[in-house]
Amino acid sequence: MSSQPIDTNFMTLTRFMLEEQTRCEGATGEMTQLLNSLVTAIKAIANAVKRAGIAKLMGIAGSTNTTGDEQKKLDVLSNDLFINQLKSSYTCSILVSEENENIIEVETEKKGKYIVAFDPLDGSSNIDCLVSIGSIFGIWKKESTGPATLADVLQPGNKQVAAGYALYGSATMLVFSTGCGINGFMLDPAIGEFVLTNRLIEIKERGKIFSINEGYAQYWDAAVAEYVKNKKFPEDGKSPYNARYIGSMVADVHRTFMYGGIFLYPGNTKSPNGKLRLLYESSPMAFLMEQAGGLATTGKEDILDIVPTDIHQRCPTIMGSPDDVRDFMRLVKKHSK
Ligand code: AHM
Ligand code: MG
Repeated sequence: MSSQPIDTNFMTLTRFMLEEQTRCEGATGEMTQLLNSLVTAIKAIANAVKRAGIAKLMGIAGSTNTTGDEQKKLDVLSNDLFINQLKSSYTCSILVSEENENIIEVETEKKGKYIVAFDPLDGSSNIDCLVSIGSIFGIWKKESTGPATLADVLQPGNKQVAAGYALYGSATMLVFSTGCGINGFMLDPAIGEFVLTNRLIEIKERGKIFSINEGYAQYWDAAVAEYVKNKKFPEDGKSPYNARYIGSMVADVHRTFMYGGIFLYPGNTKSPNGKLRLLYESSPMAFLMEQAGGLATTGKEDILDIVPTDIHQRCPTIMGSPDDVRDFMRLVKKHSK
């Protein structure tokens, strides 16, 4: 009879962070502490997502968020979890959430050196039909010496010290980077731990999938229209790309990491800056994308170079395999002449 070997030496996220911390000169362990608090929030959200129907957490909570979207019950719960866990990690000064109009100041006695911007539950229009949703976060260090101010929050993506997302899909996965590549950790429900399963994820140089909401085709500019046309009707006898669009950025970008290709939420004549929010959607994802060897652009500039002027500003977002993004950029150049 063959016996199933049990790995007794698996790498949990906490163990991974402790090892990174000992390798990193000057590390105080605060990032590990911060990440632990995020992991607690994410595990609780994963559990709530799984039980949502039964526990009657689906549907609308009866309030609207800063941009007028109806808040779902799970949005509210997820936001409270992120805020409460992060505040009590004693590592953050200011938090920015998609769900809160203003910055959230951490109480003086609990303040630490980090700024965290997050979308606690992204893709919420997919909640009620059980399609994958996610959480996204970017982490910056406070630059000023005094108490943290709005200026500490309005930092470009290239100043992020870490970023990550959790995907609540057929399994729960946490993908995370502190700037030395990106790693994926799968939640093992049996032991309640995130275990390293995808070490140093690298995106393919070129994929075969394009991902965009084609419902907005009439509002696209010429570059986007020509790019999508080329994917569907390639010249010189090449095969067309596959179209995949989930409508949850975390799921669409995660697939792009796994299979390669391109994800686009460009600006259009109705929404010149698209829909996605810079600080807690595009910037953390762009940080991860570049860490995995991909590219992330607005079409005009690298997403990571944008200096935010508003905590909820939007930005056109195109990211994915480097050759695919370069093809798109060539068309932007052609049409801007
Ligand atoms: P949300 O933060 O309100 O959930 O909106 C963001 C989501 C992204 O996950 C996704 O990429 C996008 O909205 C889809 O928008 P659209 O329905 O316009 O294609
Ligand atoms: Mg969102």
